[in-house]
Amino acid sequence: MGMEESSENREKLVFLETFGCQMNDNDSERMLGILKGINFARTDDPNCADLILINTCTVRDKAEQKVYSTLGRYKELKRGRPGLIIGIAGCVAQQQGEKLLKRAPHLDMVFGPHNVHKLRELLLEADSGRRVVATALTEAIDAGEYGAAPEASGEKAFVSIMRGCNNFCSYCIVPYTRGREVSRLSADIISEIEGLCAKGVKEVTLLGQNVNSYSTSGGGDVSFPALLGMVCSLKGLLRVRFMTSHPKDIGAELIELFGAEKKLCRHLHLPVQSGSDRILEKMGRGYTVSEYLSKIERIKALYPDMAITTDIIAGFPGETAEDFEATMALVRRARFDNIFAFMYSLRPGTAAASFDGQLSVEVRTRRLQALLDEQRVITLEKNRDLIGRTVEVLVEGPSRGDASRMMGKTQCNRIVNIACPPGLDVLQGSIMEAVVTDASPNTLSAEAKTGNH
Ligand code: 5AD
Ligand code: SF4
Repeated sequence: MGMEESSENREKLVFLETFGCQMNDNDSERMLGILKGINFARTDDPNCADLILINTCTVRDKAEQKVYSTLGRYKELKRGRPGLIIGIAGCVAQQQGEKLLKRAPHLDMVFGPHNVHKLRELLLEADSGRRVVATALTEAIDAGEYGAAPEASGEKAFVSIMRGCNNFCSYCIVPYTRGREVSRLSADIISEIEGLCAKGVKEVTLLGQNVNSYSTSGGGDVSFPALLGMVCSLKGLLRVRFMTSHPKDIGAELIELFGAEKKLCRHLHLPVQSGSDRILEKMGRGYTVSEYLSKIERIKALYPDMAITTDIIAGFPGETAEDFEATMALVRRARFDNIFAFMYSLRPGTAAASFDGQLSVEVRTRRLQALLDEQRVITLEKNRDLIGRTVEVLVEGPSRGDASRMMGKTQCNRIVNIACPPGLDVLQGSIMEAVVTDASPNTLSAEAKTGNH
């Protein structure tokens, strides 16, 4: 590929595929930021790429098989173009390391989440014909780790404020692939966001596996509520979000901030995982169902418009019909704005992998479906409750399929299609108010109420 040849100024192309969570999205944006600095542009056609990167996830599902089948697709390409470089990043890379190189002879690079910032050096090595593996987990955040500005396009961006997780929930692979918690310094986070604002970003989501422990486990310098306050005071930024909060750690100071900071979206993602105390205990979550419920009820009493979403795992090892019924009862009682439900997936190396009572795929599938069916009705009812109400929308652009309407998201991330009277000048990236006129399970329809402000 000749990256160091100064005579070669040809723009090179990278095809990048991302699986998994927003952490991975953010890592991918950092990769693109580094690649931009060495003359790469992004392509959505792997056939003309000089570099193919797959950023992988291993939280659920058959992650490795998926990686091998994706890799298989590029085997022929590599045969036809030996200069093509293929790399695997993300959590599967972290877990499998060397093994991936052994099984896929056409693979050139394997690097984990702590090694994203070394991409330029790794590419140089791969370019000179060496096959490279970078899966060292570092305890502290490396000085250059967040050095390159992530690529931002559009009005929304994710900003990683910490990495890793210390919770070791018994089902979860994350602490093994992303290491221990370390926080970034507030000044670094703020200057990254200022850079994003300069590129036109209006909404940032602060990311961490457990943002409530920002600074408490090393690395950071101010508390999470203090950091949020600093971010909210940045001019140019219209909205601030954060995820994920662990229910055991969310505190009063943070809850109060929702009253004081107008830019803070009235939305909390608070994963409950199960509605059975017995299962929560086996998961190692550190709270009971009644503690969880009283927390969200207190929050809703303070802010009736607060949207609360959650994650739930169906079919954890040893989950009885009664345990599952308790989860269904919790879903009915809490009336979440949305749930992200997953069937339990055994992760080798985690504590729960060796628990008794692993359930069949049929039971897990049936329970997952029951949860989704229950929530679909609640989501529709909650969306319908909004008919006639005014919502605040960050405009993302014309609606798909109907350019006379504008599409945007509410504070709690509902999709809204807004009918705008002719002549109303609605700018992408601006906030507008709209009155909801109709609701379906996934979208709201609305009419413009005011122009931009
Ligand atoms: N099986 C199923 N779901 C899982 N999650 C994490 N690990 C597993 C697993 N082994 C879910 C949790 C978490 C979300 C990001 O993914 O609900 O909150
Ligand atoms: Fe996984 Fe639990 Fe950490 Fe979330 S808090 S990343 S579920 S170990």
